[in-house]
Amino acid sequence: MSQQDRLDWDTTYRGVDVAAGEPRLPAVFAAHSDLFPTTGTALDIACGTGAASVWLARRGLRVHGMDVSPVAIGHCGELAVRHGVAELAQFGVVDLDGGLPAGPSVDVVLCHRFRDRRLYRPMIERLASGGILAVCVLSEVGAAPGRFRAAPGELRDAFAALDVIDADEGGGQAWLLARAATTAWR
Ligand SMILES: C[S@@+](CC[C@H](N)C(=O)[O-])C[C@H]1O[C@@H](n2cnc3c(N)ncnc32)[C@H](O)[C@@H]1O
Repeated sequence: MSQQDRLDWDTTYRGVDVAAGEPRLPAVFAAHSDLFPTTGTALDIACGTGAASVWLARRGLRVHGMDVSPVAIGHCGELAVRHGVAELAQFGVVDLDGGLPAGPSVDVVLCHRFRDRRLYRPMIERLASGGILAVCVLSEVGAAPGRFRAAPGELRDAFAALDVIDADEGGGQAWLLARAATTAWR
């Protein structure tokens, strides 16, 4: 990412009222919240101010959130402390243009409102046996085409190797919730 883009995200996040932030699973996955495990580990890719990360940590997961904006990552830490999960939540500044950093497999991979097609394969590979993938991106379906938007069917195609639990696209958004196969040897 260019330095200017990073500064733009920082500027956006400087305007955020940290005190008003609340942990929450993105609304698009809320109907399936019971499917998210209450133990294990999670990765929140492009986590923004950490609302979903802290929701996952409060649920009992050990979470690693990453984002390119140091200002956003600062907010994440404050939110985790305020909600008593600082020991379960770890945050780091990462430019995902360099790829998904290597790490152990996790029980949840969440990526909400960030799209980089190069990360789809690494996201699948990072899932532990039976792990949950929750991804939501801007879509061309129901919106004008744009370089940040997924083409029709993009998520179903990219994550066809997983067992899709639910998915939808429309109104300029596409999302997919899926589970990795359970394997005896993983
Ligand atoms: C629309 S926000 C979504 C944030 C959060 N997932 C949420 O749902 O509130 C997109 C996020 O992607 C982050 N981002 C953009 N480009 C990135 C990159 N190259 N590496 C890491 N994070 C990036 C931004 O800083 C921003 O926090």
